[in-house]
Amino acid sequence: MSLDNDIIEKKVYETYAQIATESTMVRNVKEAVKILEKNYKLIINEDIVRLVYASFLNGRPVLFEGPPGTGKTEIGEALLELWSGKKGFLLPCSENYDEYKVIGDFHPLMAMKIGFTEESFVPRILLAAMILDVGVLVDEIRRSSDEFQNLLLDIIDKRRIVVPELKRVFKSKGSGFQVILTSNPEDVAQNELSDAFLRRVIRIKFDYPDIETERKIIKIRSFDKPLVSEELINLVLKTINKLRKSNLLHKPGTDESVSWVKLAQSIAKLENEDVVKIKHIKEAATSLLSKRQEDEELITSVINDVFSEY
Ligand SMILES: Nc1ncnc2c1ncn2[C@@H]1O[C@H](COP(=O)(O)OP(=O)(O)OP(=O)(O)O)[C@@H](O)[C@H]1O
Ligand SMILES: [Mg+2]
Repeated sequence: MSLDNDIIEKKVYETYAQIATESTMVRNVKEAVKILEKNYKLIINEDIVRLVYASFLNGRPVLFEGPPGTGKTEIGEALLELWSGKKGFLLPCSENYDEYKVIGDFHPLMAMKIGFTEESFVPRILLAAMILDVGVLVDEIRRSSDEFQNLLLDIIDKRRIVVPELKRVFKSKGSGFQVILTSNPEDVAQNELSDAFLRRVIRIKFDYPDIETERKIIKIRSFDKPLVSEELINLVLKTINKLRKSNLLHKPGTDESVSWVKLAQSIAKLENEDVVKIKHIKEAATSLLSKRQEDEELITSVINDVFSEY
């Protein structure tokens, strides 16, 4: 069936092609690591990229599992884009997902008038990704139901989507349709992942970066001005690492170190300063790091401890 007379494909192109914009396809691992740093400001270990690409070559979904703010979502989206050469889709999970919400449903008024036909069918993200041959980042998979997880794995395994109401089977036409799932096992609002699910995915564990990598991330992510000295970055890293070793409920991720430095830079900028001073770092600290009331006391004491000599 050609695109011109395939109503569903036409609908997908009209609606979703605007999201799946063209970019450069990079399937060489070393090249990808370089582009991730240069174009996406993401510092990623070559081993992770190799394992993700190897999984894609095997048509296996990848699960990024690890604490909040360690780059799971951004790295997943970037890798899917480099792999398929087009921007992929993001599917944030929710408990009440079913095939109608992620594959397609029928426009109620049209379906009443003309029945369950291709004209009244509204394609959704998974079907669109398969037709456009782009990746899907399924974010926070633990927030979805078992039924949804099984539905998803079945689609990935068979690389096809069946829509019984239309008596149609849509088949994947290329290798761009790949899936990366993310999960944070410490999240309180979560479901367990079944053994059957875990057996079928390639699990990649994410963790906080080592100090030198985190320093590099802060440097490429922060603003050029006002300048932040090495000494201040050291203090930030020291505080963050102490907090990670403590028994805080919400431990700071790389996200927090970057955001902390950027907030201090913006405070300094508003004060017309050319360089960030210790008072700006201190001023940004508590509001940024303390996400729960129960954590406030501990955070304040760690900050006071690290900053005591200044
Ligand atoms: N490897 C990395 N390279 C560059 N920036 C990073 C990296 N890891 C984390 N970051 C920083 O953390 C921010 C948040 O990353 P992201 O949202 O992808 O984390 P996450 O692991 O998905 O978090 P959550 O579990 O809360 O969803 C990024 O915008 C970036 O500032
Ligand atoms: Mg995320």
